[in-house]
Amino acid sequence: MIMKFEKSIIKTINQRTSKRAYKDLEIESNKLQEINQILKKEFTGPFGGKSRFELISCGNNDSSEKRRLGTYGFVRGARYFIIGILKKEEKNIADFGFSFEKIILKMTELGLGTVWLGGSFRYNQFEKCSDIKENEYIAATTPVGYSLEKPKAYEKIISWSIGSRKRKPWSKLFYLGDFSTPLTKKIAGKYASALEMVRIGPSARNEEPWRVVKDETTNTFHFYLQLSRRKPADDLPAMKQMDLGIALSHFVLTAIDEKLKGKLVKMNPNIDTSSGYLYYIASWIGE
Ligand SMILES: Cc1cc2nc3c(=O)[nH]c(=O)nc-3n(C[C@H](O)[C@H](O)[C@H](O)COP(=O)(O)O)c2cc1C
Repeated sequence: MIMKFEKSIIKTINQRTSKRAYKDLEIESNKLQEINQILKKEFTGPFGGKSRFELISCGNNDSSEKRRLGTYGFVRGARYFIIGILKKEEKNIADFGFSFEKIILKMTELGLGTVWLGGSFRYNQFEKCSDIKENEYIAATTPVGYSLEKPKAYEKIISWSIGSRKRKPWSKLFYLGDFSTPLTKKIAGKYASALEMVRIGPSARNEEPWRVVKDETTNTFHFYLQLSRRKPADDLPAMKQMDLGIALSHFVLTAIDEKLKGKLVKMNPNIDTSSGYLYYIASWIGE
């Protein structure tokens, strides 16, 4: 995959916030080329899940009404969107989240605004101006462009109402050994930054469904999805799987940046999950 980050990923993750109002500005042609180059190849996530992405500009040169394209008016002024496409039979939605978040962070690095949109857009309008095949669907999308520096009043209201930028403290997200002992930054040691980047990541409705348990003696970190009710383990909600993909991408990208060696695997951590509706997703085995 041709995607390299030039800047510190910690800086970029900190810089990214959801942008829902855009300036009426074109993206420069060299940047458009770079984006198309990045999106050209099919993306494969850490567990083999495949997804593809297209840059579209349906509303270009059209009335502002059309530029609200498919977003129920939540996003204003955007000329370009990146749409994330999955095959209907693709089960690994966390891998999609992983790949899409990398793209979002790359756009942030290029100075462009984005916002994950998983629910509030009209799929069929996007489908009309993209190259969606019979066996595919749009799993999520983001506008991409130059955002307004000062959010409009309505954007403030949306951000406020879903508690944007507020995040749960470490003690509610990260644990040591099992789900009863909170993990401190001190014990997380060289992995404290990677976990902090998980903590501040974006999630649907800002629900932060990720939970991580560090092994007591090794640098193995087990990632779980916390739900508010029981679901079949083989049919977890798509948005939540994307959220976990985002968490994994922040963790892995930060680990790479900090030269921490390790790999993502699926294993059986054998941790008691009876304290909540907790679903195992994956583990990082670090040196
Ligand atoms: C999978 C996913 C789906 C999302 N869907 C929507 C959406 O449909 N509409 C919207 O306005 N924001 C959506 N968001 C944006 C979140 O509300 C936002 O990321 C979160 O509140 C945190 O705010 P921040 O991105 O500014 O840090 C989505 C985020 C994720 C990760």
